[in-house]
Amino acid sequence: MVARINPSILSADFVNMERDLGRIAGADFVHVDVMDNHFVPNLTFGPQMVERIQATAPIPLDVHLMITDVDRWAPGYAELGCFSVTFHAEATQEPVKLARTLKSLGARAGIALKPGTPVDDYLEILHEFDQLLVMTVEPGFGGQKFIDSVMPKLDAADAVRRASGLDIWLQVDGGVTLDTIEIAAAHGADTFVAGSSVFGAESVETAIHDLRERARAHQH
Ligand code: DX5
Ligand code: ZN
Repeated sequence: MVARINPSILSADFVNMERDLGRIAGADFVHVDVMDNHFVPNLTFGPQMVERIQATAPIPLDVHLMITDVDRWAPGYAELGCFSVTFHAEATQEPVKLARTLKSLGARAGIALKPGTPVDDYLEILHEFDQLLVMTVEPGFGGQKFIDSVMPKLDAADAVRRASGLDIWLQVDGGVTLDTIEIAAAHGADTFVAGSSVFGAESVETAIHDLRERARAHQH
C-alpha cells in the first residue's frame, strides 16, 4: 500500500512560507489549512494566499477547508487548480452535489469528519468522494494529542472501500507522530497529515522520510 505524507503548513513559518515549502519538496502533497474563525476558533488565510502557495509550492496542494458555507466557497479553491479540496461534512447541506462540482472543476473531492461526527451517515455516499479525512484532533490548532478512539471510523471506511474496489484515500489529520502514525496505518489510513512533527523536527526531510517508512511498516 501507499503511504502519502502531507505536511501541514499551519506549522510552517508564515513569513518564510517559500523557504518552508522548499523544505517539503520530498513529501507528497502540501496540506493547506483554511480557517475562517467561524467553523473553528482560529483564522489562517483565504484564496489569495492559497493561490500564491499554489504558484510557489514544489508539490501539489491538498486543501482542508475549516470554514462554514462550503457550498458557496469551496468551488473557488478547485478553480485555483488545487489538487484536492476537502470540506467538512458538518459545514455543507449538499455533500454529493458539492463533491460533483469540485470534480467537474478538476479537483479531487474530499469530505472531513470532526472527531464527534459519526461516519455511518457518510458510508453510503463515500463512493462520491476521492478522499475521506478522519480528524484525529478537534480542528483548529496544530500540536494537539492524537485521539485514537476515532479509529473505528477508519475501519468502517476501509471495509467499504475494499468492498467497492474504488481508489478512495483515507486521510488522518491531527497529532500524527512517529508513534501515532503506526496506529492509523494499521487501521487502513494511507494519507497522513503532519504539522508539528514535520516542521518542529530538527530535519524536515528526515521527518518526512521516517514517517513514511513507519507508516508503510504498519499497513496491511
Ligand atoms: C488542525 C489542522 C491540522 C494541523 C495538524 O485543525 O487541520 O492540519 O495542522 O497539526 P499537528 O500535526 O501538529 O497536529
Ligand atoms: Zn488539516
